[in-house]
Amino acid sequence: MAASPSSATAAYPALLRTQRAPLPLPCAASAPRRHPRLATRALSCAAPPHPAHPFVPEVAEAVDSLYGEFRKIDDLVAYNSARVLKAFQNARVGSHYFGGSTGYGHDEGGGREALDQIFAEVFGAESALVRAQFFSGTHAITCALWAFLRPGDELLAVAGAPYDTLEEVLGIRNSSTLGSLKDFGVSYREIPLAADGGLDWSALAIALRPQTKCALIQRSCGYSWRRSLSIEEIGRAIQIIKMQKPDCLVMVDNCYGEFVESMEPPMVGADLIAGSLIKNPGGTIAPCGGYVAGGKRWVEAAAARLSAPGLGIDCGSTPGDIMRLIFQGFFLSPQTVGEAIKGGLLIAEVMASKGYKVQPLPRVPRHDTVQAVQLGSRERVLAFCEAVQRSCPIGSYIKPTAGTTAGYASEVIFADGTFVDGSTSELSCDGPLREPFTIFCQGGTHWTQWAFVLGEVLRSI
Ligand SMILES: Cc1ncc(COP(=O)(O)O)c(C=O)c1O
Repeated sequence: MAASPSSATAAYPALLRTQRAPLPLPCAASAPRRHPRLATRALSCAAPPHPAHPFVPEVAEAVDSLYGEFRKIDDLVAYNSARVLKAFQNARVGSHYFGGSTGYGHDEGGGREALDQIFAEVFGAESALVRAQFFSGTHAITCALWAFLRPGDELLAVAGAPYDTLEEVLGIRNSSTLGSLKDFGVSYREIPLAADGGLDWSALAIALRPQTKCALIQRSCGYSWRRSLSIEEIGRAIQIIKMQKPDCLVMVDNCYGEFVESMEPPMVGADLIAGSLIKNPGGTIAPCGGYVAGGKRWVEAAAARLSAPGLGIDCGSTPGDIMRLIFQGFFLSPQTVGEAIKGGLLIAEVMASKGYKVQPLPRVPRHDTVQAVQLGSRERVLAFCEAVQRSCPIGSYIKPTAGTTAGYASEVIFADGTFVDGSTSELSCDGPLREPFTIFCQGGTHWTQWAFVLGEVLRSI
């Protein structure tokens, strides 16, 4: 499809000109006087001025057609970046906050509190806990669930089955005596998704029971072929839950949802949210960690589960280099999320044009950074992942293989040639080797990374 002469054209004039007619590079005749070393480079301008378009034709065509969508994402990035900047200024962040701490972590220069304050403000929460000591998203979600649930309570998942790694946390798979919620006498029930892959609103309207203490809402699709939830839908679900049982607490698994919209779940009534810093809010550079955010009382209870009752949030050391990366990563996050969304739009456009089923569909508004593509066979999933891994900056020589991974029942394959191990805010894709053989793509520091990867994918599958 050809690019329309919309406002998008004005927003990307340099790029569009590049595609139509190569921009003249500065050459020796017109360039101002330079340092001799630079002058040598300028002389080489006499060589053919412009390489061929770097993308394969199908991808180049999709890119051309998506500038209007990309322009909308830039508006979202600007809005969320402004919110983050304001929070940094309100917390009076200075480089002394990057000092970190050792040992118990009691002697800390204020960086930890500032990080908590920034996350709370940006997510519209009363309080937040941002810590390198959260191992992963699963760990942060687990601490959040333990903040709410006590023996005899029921946990209700309102958006179908939760993400695979939560099955053992809940005790619905391999329930051992290691301390799942089931071990502690917490029961579990779920409302299956409606036929359209969204929430089953009529079932939700009569779902709450006296013992239902907590409702779990998973914002992103996880490894399911389902629609991810918009903030509006999350807000509506919370209203329906609280109307039936005002003291039922709502916990939102916020993984892959941060900064995809202009609002976050606490702004529409979620009591607690949890997520991982090697996904969206780490901006591709946080090396580890996670967060919970919500009501002060519940954040404190989650902190007690992370550390120990009584220790709370005032301990736990974090080396200084990590503190700086967590601050900087959160600052960058609206932007890297924007790039990931653009990458997803491009994947959907290209793979749908080749006849593959994609979720979300091309050009529909996004509610997370994940783009699922149904490939229909094990071989294609493996070939897709191999092509992605070959195109990554780290470990491009490695052939990813499917295997068992802690927390997952199915065989899973990951292509993640990333700087931070397992980081899915960086370009990556993964999926369980099970019907309907779907691959889940996410991340990327710049959408052009996906444009290159797609070329390799198209050659391979
Ligand atoms: C929706 C959702 N929730 C939770 C998780 C678990 O996160 P982690 O792998 O950091 O434990 C994932 C992982 O991809 C996910 O997609």
